[in-house]
Amino acid sequence: MPDPRPTPIPENLDMTMIPTHVGVVMDGNGRWATRQGLPRTEGHGAGEKALVDTTYGALAIGVKALTVYAFSTENWRRPIDEVRYLMNFNRGLLERRQHELHEVGVRITFSGRRDWRVPRGVLKRMDEAAALTKDNTALVLNIAFNYGGRAEIVDAVRRLVEDRVPASKVDEKAIRQRLYHPELPDPDLVVRTSGEYRTSNFLLWEMAYSELVFSDVLWPDFRREDLYDAIAEYQRRDRRFGGVET
Ligand code: FPP
Repeated sequence: MPDPRPTPIPENLDMTMIPTHVGVVMDGNGRWATRQGLPRTEGHGAGEKALVDTTYGALAIGVKALTVYAFSTENWRRPIDEVRYLMNFNRGLLERRQHELHEVGVRITFSGRRDWRVPRGVLKRMDEAAALTKDNTALVLNIAFNYGGRAEIVDAVRRLVEDRVPASKVDEKAIRQRLYHPELPDPDLVVRTSGEYRTSNFLLWEMAYSELVFSDVLWPDFRREDLYDAIAEYQRRDRRFGGVET
Protein backbone atom coordinates (compact mmCIF):
# COMPACT_ATOMS: atom_id res chain seq x y z
CA MET A 1 0.00 0.00 0.00
CA PRO A 2 1.44 3.42 -0.87
CA ASP A 3 1.62 6.13 1.77
CA PRO A 4 -2.00 6.53 2.90
CA ARG A 5 -1.41 10.11 3.95
CA PRO A 6 1.16 11.82 1.74
CA THR A 7 2.08 15.22 3.13
CA PRO A 8 3.88 18.14 1.52
CA ILE A 9 7.45 18.57 2.72
CA PRO A 10 7.32 21.33 5.33
CA GLU A 11 8.95 24.59 4.31
CA ASN A 12 10.96 24.84 7.51
CA LEU A 13 12.99 21.71 6.62
CA ASP A 14 16.32 22.07 4.86
CA MET A 15 16.28 19.13 2.49
CA THR A 16 20.08 19.18 2.21
CA MET A 17 20.38 18.46 5.96
CA ILE A 18 18.06 15.52 6.51
CA PRO A 19 19.46 13.19 9.21
CA THR A 20 20.48 9.82 7.83
CA HIS A 21 19.58 7.84 10.93
CA VAL A 22 16.97 8.83 13.52
CA GLY A 23 16.39 6.98 16.80
CA VAL A 24 13.02 7.21 18.54
CA VAL A 25 12.13 6.40 22.14
CA MET A 26 8.40 5.84 21.81
CA ASP A 27 7.29 6.82 25.30
CA GLY A 28 3.99 7.75 26.88
CA ASN A 29 1.68 4.96 25.74
CA GLY A 30 0.60 4.08 29.26
CA ARG A 31 -0.16 7.68 30.22
CA TRP A 32 -2.07 8.23 26.98
CA ALA A 33 -4.29 5.25 27.76
CA THR A 34 -4.77 6.16 31.41
CA ARG A 35 -5.85 9.66 30.44
CA GLN A 36 -8.53 8.16 28.24
CA GLY A 37 -9.67 5.80 30.98
CA LEU A 38 -8.35 2.80 29.05
CA PRO A 39 -6.05 -0.05 30.12
CA ARG A 40 -2.34 0.68 29.49
CA THR A 41 -2.14 -1.90 26.75
CA GLU A 42 -4.57 0.13 24.61
CA GLY A 43 -1.87 2.80 24.52
CA HIS A 44 0.58 0.40 22.91
CA GLY A 45 -2.09 -0.56 20.39
CA ALA A 46 -2.64 3.10 19.52
CA GLY A 47 1.14 3.48 19.16
CA GLU A 48 1.07 1.36 16.00
CA LYS A 49 -0.51 4.17 13.97
CA ALA A 50 2.13 6.58 15.23
CA LEU A 51 4.90 4.17 14.27
CA VAL A 52 3.57 3.58 10.76
CA ASP A 53 2.89 7.26 10.10
CA THR A 54 6.35 8.22 11.38
CA THR A 55 7.90 5.57 9.13
CA TYR A 56 6.09 6.87 6.04
CA GLY A 57 7.01 10.42 7.03
CA ALA A 58 10.68 9.48 7.36
CA LEU A 59 10.58 7.76 3.96
CA ALA A 60 9.03 10.82 2.34
CA ILE A 61 11.92 13.10 3.30
CA GLY A 62 14.77 10.66 2.67
CA VAL A 63 15.72 9.50 6.17
CA LYS A 64 17.59 6.25 5.55
CA ALA A 65 17.26 4.54 8.93
CA LEU A 66 14.84 4.70 11.83
CA THR A 67 15.62 2.78 15.03
CA VAL A 68 12.60 2.57 17.32
CA TYR A 69 12.65 1.40 20.93
CA ALA A 70 9.82 -1.14 21.11
CA PHE A 71 10.78 -3.28 24.12
CA SER A 72 13.73 -2.86 26.44
CA THR A 73 15.65 -5.43 28.47
CA GLU A 74 14.13 -3.66 31.50
CA ASN A 75 10.53 -3.96 30.24
CA TRP A 76 10.37 -7.58 31.50
CA ARG A 77 9.74 -6.03 34.92
CA ARG A 78 6.30 -4.87 33.81
CA PRO A 79 3.15 -6.79 34.79
CA ILE A 80 3.06 -10.18 33.09
CA ASP A 81 -0.10 -9.29 31.13
CA GLU A 82 1.53 -6.19 29.68
CA VAL A 83 4.68 -8.14 28.74
CA ARG A 84 2.55 -10.79 27.08
CA TYR A 85 0.59 -8.10 25.25
CA LEU A 86 3.76 -6.46 23.93
CA MET A 87 5.15 -9.80 22.74
CA ASN A 88 1.96 -10.64 20.86
CA PHE A 89 1.70 -7.07 19.67
CA ASN A 90 5.10 -7.22 18.02
CA ARG A 91 4.09 -10.39 16.22
CA GLY A 92 0.70 -8.96 15.21
CA LEU A 93 2.22 -5.69 14.05
CA LEU A 94 4.63 -7.55 11.78
CA GLU A 95 1.83 -9.73 10.42
CA ARG A 96 -0.34 -6.69 9.72
CA ARG A 97 2.32 -4.36 8.35
CA GLN A 98 5.23 -6.25 6.84
CA HIS A 99 3.74 -6.47 3.34
CA GLU A 100 2.81 -2.81 3.03
CA LEU A 101 6.22 -1.78 4.38
CA HIS A 102 7.87 -4.20 1.97
CA GLU A 103 5.97 -2.64 -0.95
CA VAL A 104 7.31 0.82 -0.19
CA GLY A 105 10.91 -0.40 0.10
CA VAL A 106 11.35 -0.64 3.86
CA ARG A 107 13.86 -3.13 5.18
CA ILE A 108 12.87 -4.40 8.63
CA THR A 109 15.70 -5.33 10.99
CA PHE A 110 15.95 -5.93 14.72
CA SER A 111 18.37 -5.02 17.47
CA GLY A 112 18.25 -6.91 20.73
CA ARG A 113 18.76 -10.21 22.48
CA ARG A 114 17.14 -13.32 21.14
CA ASP A 115 16.97 -14.92 24.55
CA TRP A 116 14.66 -17.62 25.88
CA ARG A 117 12.17 -15.09 27.17
CA VAL A 118 11.10 -14.05 23.68
CA PRO A 119 8.47 -16.57 22.51
CA ARG A 120 9.50 -18.73 19.57
CA GLY A 121 6.52 -17.61 17.50
CA VAL A 122 7.59 -13.97 17.89
CA LEU A 123 11.16 -14.77 16.83
CA LYS A 124 9.82 -16.65 13.83
CA ARG A 125 7.76 -13.64 12.68
CA MET A 126 10.75 -11.36 13.20
CA ASP A 127 12.90 -13.63 11.02
CA GLU A 128 10.21 -13.78 8.35
CA ALA A 129 9.83 -9.99 8.22
CA ALA A 130 13.61 -9.55 8.05
CA ALA A 131 13.91 -12.15 5.28
CA LEU A 132 10.99 -10.74 3.28
CA THR A 133 12.41 -7.21 3.28
CA LYS A 134 16.14 -7.91 3.26
CA ASP A 135 16.82 -6.48 -0.21
CA ASN A 136 14.92 -3.23 0.30
CA THR A 137 16.94 -0.04 0.31
CA ALA A 138 14.58 2.93 0.75
CA LEU A 139 14.64 2.92 4.56
CA VAL A 140 15.79 0.59 7.33
CA LEU A 141 13.20 0.26 10.08
CA ASN A 142 15.30 -1.18 12.88
CA ILE A 143 13.10 -2.36 15.74
CA ALA A 144 14.92 -2.42 19.06
CA PHE A 145 13.21 -5.37 20.74
CA ASN A 146 14.46 -6.92 23.96
CA TYR A 147 17.13 -4.29 23.52
CA GLY A 148 19.41 -2.66 26.07
CA GLY A 149 22.38 -0.45 25.31
CA ARG A 150 24.46 -2.04 28.06
CA ALA A 151 23.43 -5.53 26.95
CA GLU A 152 24.53 -4.65 23.41
CA ILE A 153 27.97 -3.64 24.66
CA VAL A 154 28.18 -6.77 26.85
CA ASP A 155 27.28 -8.89 23.82
CA ALA A 156 29.98 -7.15 21.76
CA VAL A 157 32.55 -7.85 24.48
CA ARG A 158 31.48 -11.50 24.62
CA ARG A 159 32.08 -11.73 20.89
CA LEU A 160 35.51 -10.13 21.26
CA VAL A 161 36.38 -12.87 23.74
CA GLU A 162 34.89 -15.59 21.52
CA ASP A 163 36.89 -14.21 18.60
CA ARG A 164 40.02 -14.34 20.81
CA VAL A 165 40.90 -10.72 20.12
CA PRO A 166 44.03 -9.86 22.15
CA ALA A 167 43.75 -6.90 24.55
CA SER A 168 46.13 -4.82 22.45
CA LYS A 169 43.76 -5.15 19.50
CA VAL A 170 40.63 -4.08 21.40
CA ASP A 171 39.74 -0.63 20.16
CA GLU A 172 36.58 1.28 19.25
CA LYS A 173 36.52 -0.22 15.77
CA ALA A 174 36.73 -3.76 17.16
CA ILE A 175 33.80 -3.08 19.48
CA ARG A 176 31.71 -1.28 16.87
CA GLN A 177 32.10 -4.17 14.44
CA ARG A 178 30.46 -6.42 17.03
CA LEU A 179 27.42 -4.27 17.79
CA TYR A 180 24.04 -5.51 16.54
CA HIS A 181 24.09 -3.43 13.35
CA PRO A 182 27.57 -2.17 12.58
CA GLU A 183 26.48 -1.31 9.05
CA LEU A 184 24.12 1.43 10.31
CA PRO A 185 25.65 4.86 10.82
CA ASP A 186 25.30 6.32 14.31
CA PRO A 187 22.00 8.16 14.75
CA ASP A 188 22.30 11.85 13.96
CA LEU A 189 19.19 12.55 15.98
CA VAL A 190 17.39 10.78 18.81
CA VAL A 191 13.85 11.85 19.66
CA ARG A 192 12.13 10.96 22.92
CA THR A 193 8.45 11.61 23.32
CA SER A 194 6.19 12.27 26.31
CA GLY A 195 8.23 14.96 28.05
CA GLU A 196 10.70 12.59 29.74
CA TYR A 197 14.35 13.60 29.63
CA ARG A 198 16.19 10.29 29.82
CA THR A 199 18.02 8.03 27.40
CA SER A 200 16.86 4.84 29.20
CA ASN A 201 19.62 2.54 27.98
CA PHE A 202 18.89 3.23 24.30
CA LEU A 203 21.77 2.98 21.77
CA LEU A 204 24.35 3.88 24.40
CA TRP A 205 27.39 3.36 22.20
CA GLU A 206 25.84 4.75 19.02
CA MET A 207 24.37 7.87 20.65
CA ALA A 208 27.70 9.38 21.72
CA TYR A 209 27.30 12.39 19.41
CA SER A 210 23.61 12.30 18.56
CA GLU A 211 21.52 15.40 18.93
CA LEU A 212 18.73 14.82 21.44
CA VAL A 213 15.30 16.31 20.93
CA PHE A 214 12.54 15.91 23.48
CA SER A 215 8.90 16.20 22.51
CA ASP A 216 5.98 16.59 24.91
CA VAL A 217 3.68 14.62 22.62
CA LEU A 218 2.66 11.21 23.98
CA TRP A 219 3.69 8.50 21.54
CA PRO A 220 0.18 7.45 20.36
CA ASP A 221 -0.44 11.08 19.27
CA PHE A 222 2.92 11.38 17.47
CA ARG A 223 2.73 11.87 13.70
CA ARG A 224 5.19 12.68 10.92
CA GLU A 225 4.65 16.41 11.54
CA ASP A 226 6.13 15.92 15.01
CA LEU A 227 9.10 14.11 13.47
CA TYR A 228 9.54 17.04 11.09
CA ASP A 229 9.44 19.48 14.02
CA ALA A 230 12.16 17.44 15.75
CA ILE A 231 14.24 17.45 12.57
CA ALA A 232 13.79 21.22 12.21
CA GLU A 233 15.15 21.61 15.74
CA TYR A 234 18.04 19.27 14.89
CA GLN A 235 18.85 21.43 11.86
CA ARG A 236 19.16 24.49 14.09
CA ARG A 237 21.81 22.74 16.22
CA ASP A 238 25.53 23.17 15.69
CA ARG A 239 27.20 19.75 15.55
CA ARG A 240 30.89 19.85 16.35
CA PHE A 241 31.63 16.24 17.37
CA GLY A 242 33.98 17.44 20.11
CA GLY A 243 35.85 19.79 17.81
CA VAL A 244 35.56 23.55 17.37
CA GLU A 245 33.84 25.48 14.66
CA THR A 246 36.07 26.15 11.68
C1 FPP B 1 6.64 3.19 26.41
O1 FPP B 1 5.44 3.71 26.90
C2 FPP B 1 6.39 2.32 25.29
C3 FPP B 1 6.69 0.99 25.23
C4 FPP B 1 7.32 0.25 26.31
C5 FPP B 1 6.38 0.21 24.05
C6 FPP B 1 6.45 0.95 22.78
C7 FPP B 1 5.86 0.15 21.72
C8 FPP B 1 5.11 0.63 20.71
C9 FPP B 1 4.77 2.05 20.54
C10 FPP B 1 4.53 -0.17 19.64
C11 FPP B 1 5.45 -0.98 18.87
C12 FPP B 1 5.69 -2.18 19.69
C13 FPP B 1 6.22 -3.31 19.30
C14 FPP B 1 6.35 -4.37 20.30
C15 FPP B 1 6.67 -3.54 17.89
P1 FPP B 1 5.10 3.46 28.42
O2 FPP B 1 4.24 2.25 28.50
O3 FPP B 1 6.35 3.43 29.21
O4 FPP B 1 4.25 4.74 28.74
P2 FPP B 1 4.23 5.50 30.15
O5 FPP B 1 5.60 6.09 30.33
O6 FPP B 1 3.18 6.54 29.92
O7 FPP B 1 3.85 4.50 31.18
